[in-house]
Amino acid sequence: MKDPTTLSTERFRTIITRFYRRYGRDLPWRRTRDSYRVLVSEFMLQQTQVERVQNSYPKFLARFPDVASLANARTAEVLASWQGLGYNRRALALQRSARKVMEQYEGRIPVEPHALVSFPGIGPATAGAVAAFAGNVPAVFIETNIRRVFIHFYFPGQDAVSDQSIEPLVDRTLDRKNPREWYYALMDYGVHLKRKVPNPNRRSRHYRRQSPFENSHRQIRGLILKALISQEGLRFNRLSDIVRRPQQKVRKALDELIREGFVRSARERFFIA
Ligand code: ADE
Repeated sequence: MKDPTTLSTERFRTIITRFYRRYGRDLPWRRTRDSYRVLVSEFMLQQTQVERVQNSYPKFLARFPDVASLANARTAEVLASWQGLGYNRRALALQRSARKVMEQYEGRIPVEPHALVSFPGIGPATAGAVAAFAGNVPAVFIETNIRRVFIHFYFPGQDAVSDQSIEPLVDRTLDRKNPREWYYALMDYGVHLKRKVPNPNRRSRHYRRQSPFENSHRQIRGLILKALISQEGLRFNRLSDIVRRPQQKVRKALDELIREGFVRSARERFFIA
């Protein structure tokens, strides 16, 4: 292993900062410090590409301009506004988070990572990002673009790099005076690397390609939710006709959605919870 200390923090920061000054992206969610707007963007960006999010983000905010409007909306409407972004469960978790903010935080979204991770759909990466981007809090966090940068610079030629070994480097190199800009810069450099070199994240211990099974299972979950958004109260047979997948698989995905609280059943009909 190359000694990770051979690249000085100063040199590393210079590389990233210079790049950012020249090629940094101007994105709509970087023009705000409003924690609700930042939270919405981070939920959308969890697994969806920037271009797609850029398209949906303004529309979603026009429809749900603040945390109260999102909390009070009908879930089916939130899901309808989420179309095009995929992974409907993120929309459900976002709305549940908004409701929790209204019920337990007097309508104010916290910017401390330890508080944020207690919300539905918010893991350490989203919590860190919201803290840094909304509150300029120097939280240490790793997401896919950030991971790529550190593996590239600090673990050349090494396989199965763990986040645990990356974290101290994120901590050490963090610009504590301006974590907001620093993380924008790291993310943009990560996107740049993806185009420039074979994806360093293949060398992450946490790298996982989705299997065809996972893809089809996820797709069926999405199709079920979509069907129930447009037509609530379907019976099982009708639902599997619409979804057009083997009943056994539909049953499995449906049971899972019920267990997770996204769907409820009453008198043999199914509804968005
Ligand atoms: N800017 C702020 N958050 C971002 C994210 N998660 N991905 C890309 N750019 C961002």
